[in-house]
Amino acid sequence: MNITVETGDFRQKETDAVLIPILEDDLHNELLLAADASLDGSIQAFLNLGDFKGKPKTTSVLYTNGALPTPRIILVGLGMYNELNAEKVRQIAGHTARHLRDMGLKSVTVPIPPETQDDWTQAAVEASLLSLYEFKQHKTQSDEDSENNKSLDSMTFLVGSEAEKSLIEPIVERGQTVAKGTILARDLSNQPGNHLTPTQLADKAEEVAETVGLDCTVFDKPTLEEKGFRTLLAVAQGSAEDPRFIILEYTPEGEGHDTVALVGKGITFDTGGISLKSGKGMDEMKHDMSGAAAVLGAMQVIGQLKPNVRVIGIIATTENMPGSTAIKPGDVITSYGGKTIEIMNTDAEGRLILADALGWTAQYEPNGVIDLATLTGAVITCLGHIAAGAMGTDDALMEKLKKAADKTHERVWELPLWDDYDEGVKSKVADVQNIGDGTAGTLAGAAFLKKFAEGYPWVHLDIAGTAWGMKGSSYIPDGASGYGVRLLVQLVEDW
Ligand code: BES
Ligand code: MN
Ligand code: ZN
Repeated sequence: MNITVETGDFRQKETDAVLIPILEDDLHNELLLAADASLDGSIQAFLNLGDFKGKPKTTSVLYTNGALPTPRIILVGLGMYNELNAEKVRQIAGHTARHLRDMGLKSVTVPIPPETQDDWTQAAVEASLLSLYEFKQHKTQSDEDSENNKSLDSMTFLVGSEAEKSLIEPIVERGQTVAKGTILARDLSNQPGNHLTPTQLADKAEEVAETVGLDCTVFDKPTLEEKGFRTLLAVAQGSAEDPRFIILEYTPEGEGHDTVALVGKGITFDTGGISLKSGKGMDEMKHDMSGAAAVLGAMQVIGQLKPNVRVIGIIATTENMPGSTAIKPGDVITSYGGKTIEIMNTDAEGRLILADALGWTAQYEPNGVIDLATLTGAVITCLGHIAAGAMGTDDALMEKLKKAADKTHERVWELPLWDDYDEGVKSKVADVQNIGDGTAGTLAGAAFLKKFAEGYPWVHLDIAGTAWGMKGSSYIPDGASGYGVRLLVQLVEDW
């Protein structure tokens, strides 16, 4: 769907429908009165019957019967003014966009009331696009009974003047850019393991970098061997697919900018390795590169929005397979930074590849590092599919992240990364072991990572619960959510 901004009067627009947003406590707004005047007061009569009260997520369709160029006026309820916020707008916009699509409409026009806040406009744009997302790449036939064949192609925001238009256009543009980055992350995460190998993920990163003007470096297997990425190579050694290490760099004009690094776990499929997972639900492990997808999606947006901070995107990517050459429980390996690790469970592979990635990151002297990883099933037990677990070594960075999470509604919840948890990852034979004692699994993962995230402010986001399977939202479909893209972009923009 394409979203554009135009000036003019909705009573003159040829469009499948004109949407009139209506507050519960301001039913008779100017737009509605204008429409009603053209329709001989029939909207007023309709409201008098109590058929539409402006409640959030309710809509009513009125037919203009030739009185206006558009055949339909659709009233869209927003609820009470003082209860309205960006997330409510997202929920309403997402719900409405799906409804319009399911009605079979192609083009709609939405007059924007002048008092609309910028963040609400951006929220409406993002959610409209995100709610219509479907992953249909591998369907050769569309389902008879689904809405598959219907598509809402264009949405036009109408404003009163050229001055308003020049204010609102960049916001609409930015909303579309952010939504496209989120959709990129969803597409990557939804892609089955046989269609997205580490090599294909690296190729995609190069393509994105080329398109939006980022520097991109990819290390192949010989380069990883030469540079000593031993934990990434260790996880990859049971697989026929070679690993890759991807570095994306965005550098703003001028000097003296802070540097932020975004690090993503890119396991393109996680079987568990020799500590094999059980079969039930194993297909979901195609999403185990959602952290990497979020980093790539965010970097695409950052390349386009050009914020005033240097941003490094780092992705370690491999499969985790149980081949005859695979790592085994009890094996000891050495990380990029030189620390030794006893592998007690090959299914705790994400933290292994992140050990190298976090070690590599130090050379950029970053002012903040966020890693995103589908690291533990335990975080789902703890927070469900609602919030990511956030654990880190720097309060100021954590605060920045929480602020970005509040704005985007990509929720984070801080868990206590006290030193007390270090005890659990002590090894008898190496510097550290890759699992804890079975309690507080999410914190054991973070306590392990902390050993490798040295020399910079750092927050780890465990996104195992939020990367897919988020339910109950009008703009987040089944499957991959694209969680993290909007959050990271907001963090960087507000830096
Ligand atoms: N990718 C999984 C984590 C995961 C599990 C994400 C379920 C989403 C849903 C990760 O690599 C893993 O297997 N973690 C283990 C760690 C354990 C062996 C300490 C887990 O959570 O069971
Ligand atoms: Mn695993
Ligand atoms: Zn995993």
